[in-house]
Amino acid sequence: MGTTYLLSAEAVSDPYGVYAALREQGPVVWLPEHHAWMLTTYHEVQHAFRDARLASDRLTPLEQRLDPERRARLGQTFELLRGWMVFQDPPHHERMREPLRRAFTPRTVERLRPHVHEIVDELLSGIAERGEVDLVADYAFPLPAIVIAELLGVPVPDRERFRTWSAQLAAIVFGSSNRADQAEAAAEGSAQFADYFAWLIRKYTDEPADNLVSALIAVTHDDAARGGDGLTASELVGACTLLLFAGHETTAHLIGSGTLALLQHPAELAWLRDHLDLIGPAVEELLRYDGPTMVMPRAVGVEHERHGSLLQPGQSVFLCVAGANHDPAAFSDPDRLWLARPDAGKHLGFGYGIHYCLGAPLARLEGQIAIGALVQRFPQLALAREDVDRGASILGRGLRTLPVTVG
Ligand code: HEM
Repeated sequence: MGTTYLLSAEAVSDPYGVYAALREQGPVVWLPEHHAWMLTTYHEVQHAFRDARLASDRLTPLEQRLDPERRARLGQTFELLRGWMVFQDPPHHERMREPLRRAFTPRTVERLRPHVHEIVDELLSGIAERGEVDLVADYAFPLPAIVIAELLGVPVPDRERFRTWSAQLAAIVFGSSNRADQAEAAAEGSAQFADYFAWLIRKYTDEPADNLVSALIAVTHDDAARGGDGLTASELVGACTLLLFAGHETTAHLIGSGTLALLQHPAELAWLRDHLDLIGPAVEELLRYDGPTMVMPRAVGVEHERHGSLLQPGQSVFLCVAGANHDPAAFSDPDRLWLARPDAGKHLGFGYGIHYCLGAPLARLEGQIAIGALVQRFPQLALAREDVDRGASILGRGLRTLPVTVG
């Protein structure tokens, strides 16, 4: 194993081979390079998502590891991130998730369908005129950014600013906060992010409109009126920034990697063009085969033994979702892309248990419409180059660029 094992060139080009080799070592493996335990099998990962001894609050151990100066510098960033339910455990988690669950329902998402079609058609028309395009920059990234900003009620001219703030915050969320320059950037990004949404929340408190921020404010006021806890002002800001952060890059990666997988498997692509009514299950298989989620981190909350290993409080645990999705004990011939796979839907790409992705219906809607319309509109769609440009990250996987020819 190399010093940056899961970020080595080998692991980035063939993570599934690396996960398979780790699975051979057992369901629970210590990774010295990352000072973390890795859970390698489908059964173990699924079980761990429901295991209360593994905490989602990994901010506290991270904060404790920082030197005092950096901790002070990142104070506002941690405050913002503590408003993200994804870093919370019961009972706070349930209290924070419930208002969002009520405001952001599958029905809210279904109402977006015609509009998502319109945005997709417009983006595809822009592409159609050009011979070669970068499908990531011109299609996969703009679509979810437009959808989530419109859903939240973010005015059009303000959208561009989020890209920088999200990128700055990613340095902390993805765990590289000990680099001084990134800590500075994260501190700045979170301050601007929080200020912006505090302003937006004030605006929609005074003049409610038909958007998710207004719906969340209404749910919170409703809770307060009934004597319940509701969300605090900073939790409301947290909910909005989490939606923006969680809903963008992940969905873009689904569209980018999903399209690449289809272009690398022409027989499957031809099958899909003949069975576009089955785009739903096909997208589940794309999520399983090479989806955006690689590893979901947890922190050991309570000392316990797992398969003979002693896990101690504060230690990191990597739930290897992508390895679980390629476990032969769960999926037959797991490294094969098979769009008609009958049980692809049991993949763990959206997590499992109490933190199951709240945006899954929206991600599915966008992925299905975007990929379906793309392959239908461009029968000659082809890769412009064989080599692909991937970002290296332990937690997620996606393409930086995807040059294709459209006709
Ligand atoms: C293909 C796209 C997406 C993937 C692969 C994905 C994946 C995930 C995963 C694995 C989790 C579980 C986190 C954990 O257990 O710690 C999660 C949680 C979450 N996701 Fe997504 N997500 C996607 C799109 C979205 C979208 C579009 C939104 C919203 C607009 C969203 C909002 C959330 C939220 C709010 C949570 C936190 C839920 C909680 O902690 O209770 N996600 N997502």
